[in-house]
Amino acid sequence: MSDESRARTAIERCRKLASFSQDHGSTRRTFLSPPMRECHREIAAWLKPLGAKVRIDAAGNLRGFYPAAEAIAPRLLIGSHLDTVPNAGAFDGVLGVVLGVALLEALDGKRLPFGIEVIGFSEEEGQRFGTPFIGSRALVGRLDDELLSRKDENGVCVRQAIQDFGLDPREIPEAALKGDTLGFVEFHIEQGPILDGLERPLGVVEAIAGQSRLEFIFIGSVNHAGTTPMNQRRDAIAAAAEWITAVEREAQRVEGLVATIGSITAKPGAPNVIAGETRLTLDVRHGVDDSRDRAVETLMRLAETIAARRGLSVRHTTLLTQPSVAMDRPLARQIEQAIRRTGCEPHVMVSGAGHDAMILAEKVPASMIFLRTPRGISHDPAESVRVEDVAKAIAAGSHLLALLASSPAIQRRTHLA
Ligand code: GLV
Ligand code: MN
Ligand code: MN
Repeated sequence: MSDESRARTAIERCRKLASFSQDHGSTRRTFLSPPMRECHREIAAWLKPLGAKVRIDAAGNLRGFYPAAEAIAPRLLIGSHLDTVPNAGAFDGVLGVVLGVALLEALDGKRLPFGIEVIGFSEEEGQRFGTPFIGSRALVGRLDDELLSRKDENGVCVRQAIQDFGLDPREIPEAALKGDTLGFVEFHIEQGPILDGLERPLGVVEAIAGQSRLEFIFIGSVNHAGTTPMNQRRDAIAAAAEWITAVEREAQRVEGLVATIGSITAKPGAPNVIAGETRLTLDVRHGVDDSRDRAVETLMRLAETIAARRGLSVRHTTLLTQPSVAMDRPLARQIEQAIRRTGCEPHVMVSGAGHDAMILAEKVPASMIFLRTPRGISHDPAESVRVEDVAKAIAAGSHLLALLASSPAIQRRTHLA
């Protein structure tokens, strides 16, 4: 089978997975929601005929292990996440899992000096509990009590969600990486316009920008919209609105800073009632961690100043502080070499989006291969990929497996094992 027909199959599979959704007519699949089970079933049905052993670990990650030629050998991890944002596209995350399956299929039964574990992480987007990377944190032993106790909007905590899915949270330590791991490779759409602008199909990620996520609550006073004079109001929506525009101005002022208030809810939420409370999420990113930390401080101070001037109070909770992470250099160089073997020149780049690779990098050599994202559109149903780029990614992945199999490091390791 040609890489092009494998690419067409991969795209069809991504679209099939997109149909497993909590919402009718659009894709939304949050941590261990019912459609995640259908997703697992579908991917397991692709993996099992290839001789892979499939299990769902206690953090809800799908793990398909394709054994090495020898019983004792290191393993290479290939994967990405299976959860989505609301009204999602079909490729963010799932493409990295589907391409893992395609690479096993391309091996056509051949065994390598290392095993390959295809992983579909249960959670990366941070939609249900506000905190991302629940799946990959289990692999590095960081799915702690604090995170397990975090609640979703219905008051269900992560621990309970795991039990409701039929898994046992006491087994989470068994999800952690064990044994000799060669590395983690994540294929992912770029989700930005750089490769498209350069007309290059593939990129190699050398670093992933850090990110902070917080929740802010402005608290004012509920009162009547018709009878309360404008100068006697403590309007939580008006205060939030002033802060939102201040956040945008600050991000425009500081080079390299991006800051997003992606969601806002107000209470009580009626046309003739002045809002007494607004809740907002803040997502702040910068390639330099100190600059991000400074920006978060500034945005907090701005919220306090605006609230105080208007007679309101404001509180915040930090949901995530994730430093920027360098990808593994030797692995990234091997990926570059593999991409060159497909006849393309790889573009070496920094990822502005967060990825499971930044968590896995705490424990194992990790790197990423980006696929061009037409018009840079992502986190939207218009997200797409080109068949020829997916075919190049499969070809590059196959070259990478061959390069790793013949590398002196793997020869040494299997010899020692
Ligand atoms: C993942 O999509 C992120 O928010 O970077
Ligand atoms: Mn995403
Ligand atoms: Mn993603």
